[in-house]
Amino acid sequence: MLDMNTDMTLEIASNNLNDTQAVGEAVGKNLKGGEVIELTSDLGGGKTALVRGIASGLGSTDHVASPTFTISRVYQAGGLILQHFDFYRLDDPGIMVDELAETIGDPKTIVAIEWAATVQAVLPEQRLRVHIETTGEHSRHITINAPESMHYCLEGLV
Ligand SMILES: Nc1ncnc2c1ncn2[C@@H]1O[C@H](COP(=O)(O)OP(=O)(O)OP(=O)(O)O)[C@@H](O)[C@H]1O
Ligand SMILES: [Mg+2]
Repeated sequence: MLDMNTDMTLEIASNNLNDTQAVGEAVGKNLKGGEVIELTSDLGGGKTALVRGIASGLGSTDHVASPTFTISRVYQAGGLILQHFDFYRLDDPGIMVDELAETIGDPKTIVAIEWAATVQAVLPEQRLRVHIETTGEHSRHITINAPESMHYCLEGLV
């Protein structure tokens, strides 16, 4: 029988902020543009820290900060763009959902999204899902799930 479940899931232990950023950096090095990355965790789990690593792995020197009040931030990474969304406490994403949908179609842009519950409808099925579980003050359990078309994103982590 044909195996339809070709998702790849990695479980990674992080003992400090640097570990989490290093995971992001390893992913960032593999990105080509056009990827969508959804990050989930409890408040303060380390999603923004992991996005900071992704930006660094892409070679961006732009400052990565939480887009909680601006909803979206854009970082330059060579010929690519990293667009970082955060829909925290936004019950109605309004026109930002249109901006997100437009950005998702751009092959030069990598989209990273925190608190994506209200925008699930526009997220592509082919996306990287990063979940961070807080297991202690400085420890985290990071789970990354990649569909078959995105296994290359996990190179260097496997
Ligand atoms: N192993 C770890 N990985 C990541 N962050 C850690 C770790 N240990 C401690 N921290 C701390 O947890 C916090 C993570 O903050 P960060 O803004 O990245 O989380 P977040 O998930 O984006 O938060 P929010 O839910 O507000 O968007 C930082 O203060 C960081 O120093
Ligand atoms: Mg954040």
